[in-house]
Amino acid sequence: MSLAESWDRYAVGGTPRRTVNARGEVTWFNWTQYADHGPNEGLLGPVAGRRVLELGSGNGSNLAHLVTLGAIGVGVDVAPAREAVARERWGHLSGLELRTAEAAAFLTETADTFDVVLSVFGAVWFVDPATLLPLIRSRMAPGGILAFSHLPPGVRTPEPGKAGMRHDHTPDEWTVLLAAHGFSDASAVIVDPPEGKSVGTMLAHAAAV
Ligand SMILES: C[S@@+](CC[C@H](N)C(=O)[O-])C[C@H]1O[C@@H](n2cnc3c(N)ncnc32)[C@H](O)[C@@H]1O
Repeated sequence: MSLAESWDRYAVGGTPRRTVNARGEVTWFNWTQYADHGPNEGLLGPVAGRRVLELGSGNGSNLAHLVTLGAIGVGVDVAPAREAVARERWGHLSGLELRTAEAAAFLTETADTFDVVLSVFGAVWFVDPATLLPLIRSRMAPGGILAFSHLPPGVRTPEPGKAGMRHDHTPDEWTVLLAAHGFSDASAVIVDPPEGKSVGTMLAHAAAV
């Protein structure tokens, strides 16, 4: 089965994002696997007027939120089913472009540059950083921000994102990897889980020089 088919299959089991969050907002940003939890888009700095690329954008809801704040958003996901769902829900937003493509292939082919690149449990987790980080770096504007999240190492999940297909790294490992690939001010932490839960979220960010 191809990567696209396998992620398409996984997409079918996905739960749609709620239409409003606990604060009654219709769009919002969430880096973690828990509803109404953790840091928001503030980590990215001001996004209005900035070109923002999301790698593995899924149902597009995080990116749609950034677009409502004035970002010019490009969402790339390898699964065609994801683009269809994202388009149905967020296709009305001008300033949001959705593409079905594998992240490394997209970065290799595009001539565009981006001020912000992000990935929420997305392609940065599933593509070898030795391949992906240089490609991301090559398409980022100077001073741009890269930020991404994923489950901490050692957490088991159902196919196809099971351990082994993922590039699980600790915060310390990510800061070393990011610096080694020419990013500056790399910082990574485990965001604590909400009360009653035991698994936190690995959240990293760095700047392109
Ligand atoms: C666990 S889901 C997360 C989706 C979304 N970011 C979210 O937070 O809901 C992982 C997503 O990454 C996409 N993906 C996985 N590997 C990819 C790759 N190499 N290139 C592009 N997208 C990829 C999958 O199709 C899927 O939509």
